[in-house]
Amino acid sequence: MTKPSVYVTRMIPEVCIDELRKHFDVDVNSEDRALSYDELKQKVRGKNAIVSLLTDTIDGGLLDAAGPQCKIVANYAVGFNNFDLKAATERNVILTNTPGVLDDATATLTFTLLLATARRIAEADAYVRAGKWRGWAPLFFVGLDVDHRTLGIAGLGRIGKNVARKAAGFDMKIIYSDVNRDLAFEKEHNARYVDKATLLKESDFLTLHVPLLPETKHYIGAAELKQMKKTAVLINAARGPVIDEKALVEALRAKTIWGAGLDVFEDEPALAPGLAELDNVVIVPHIASATAETRFKMGEIAVNNVIKVLSGQAPDTCVNPDVLKAKA
Ligand code: GLV
Ligand code: GLV
Repeated sequence: MTKPSVYVTRMIPEVCIDELRKHFDVDVNSEDRALSYDELKQKVRGKNAIVSLLTDTIDGGLLDAAGPQCKIVANYAVGFNNFDLKAATERNVILTNTPGVLDDATATLTFTLLLATARRIAEADAYVRAGKWRGWAPLFFVGLDVDHRTLGIAGLGRIGKNVARKAAGFDMKIIYSDVNRDLAFEKEHNARYVDKATLLKESDFLTLHVPLLPETKHYIGAAELKQMKKTAVLINAARGPVIDEKALVEALRAKTIWGAGLDVFEDEPALAPGLAELDNVVIVPHIASATAETRFKMGEIAVNNVIKVLSGQAPDTCVNPDVLKAKA
């Protein structure tokens, strides 16, 4: 009997591929780049499972190209805005993500951006390397205090809560907004549930942890940026389109907010025109979950989901659970 076949859209940690190879016929994109939609359509044809990246569009067209034998697409990411959930459910395809294992790494990178922006680390590092440093000076690279300031969290999921835990070490005041209130969290962190207008107005540091949905696109746009403090810092390690990046460039240029720390961008890997020329923004290339251990654990979840589904079991982390109900 031939083994079921799996397509992996880009190299993930080798041990994860080895585990897949124990059970399946595995094909991996050997090029060091994301495949185009059309290339992907060719590659997935006839496969029983796909391990995808957040850069791969998984919609009805792609699943039809794969064929009806395709049972699961396992995203190697916690975010899954690259999935068309409805199209997959209609085609009986199970979709999974990798929640939980990247909360620490992502919250740590969020806090790294916060600190780096407040203390102008990227700018200062570039200055010293350029040979411009002439010695200690009192009014030189003056930044912002982080301790005791107000941290605003938009979107109180696992990652937002993890950021709050890290902020406790800096004795930050926590305010948050979310579709749901969490009383236990409020008690634990002495946190205040606020509406969006208050969040914008009171945050010294505003960090975004909402998923990308039609209703969160441009959650921060020109109007929102105007409501923020002139001394405020905006942090985004969620998804780029949650911020209107052009409006952010204008606000940073006009200094209507103090700074920004960004891991994600509207049109990755492109940046909004002018963004990279600004001193008051710290830019990193979508690396929030990029630690060896985290990337391994993400692979472990994706691989286990594929193994379970192809042996007729339910996966651990389904994002379109209606498809499981239909099967039950
Ligand atoms: C990274 O952005 C992820 O969603 O895992
Ligand atoms: C700074 O280096 C100080 O000694 O105040």
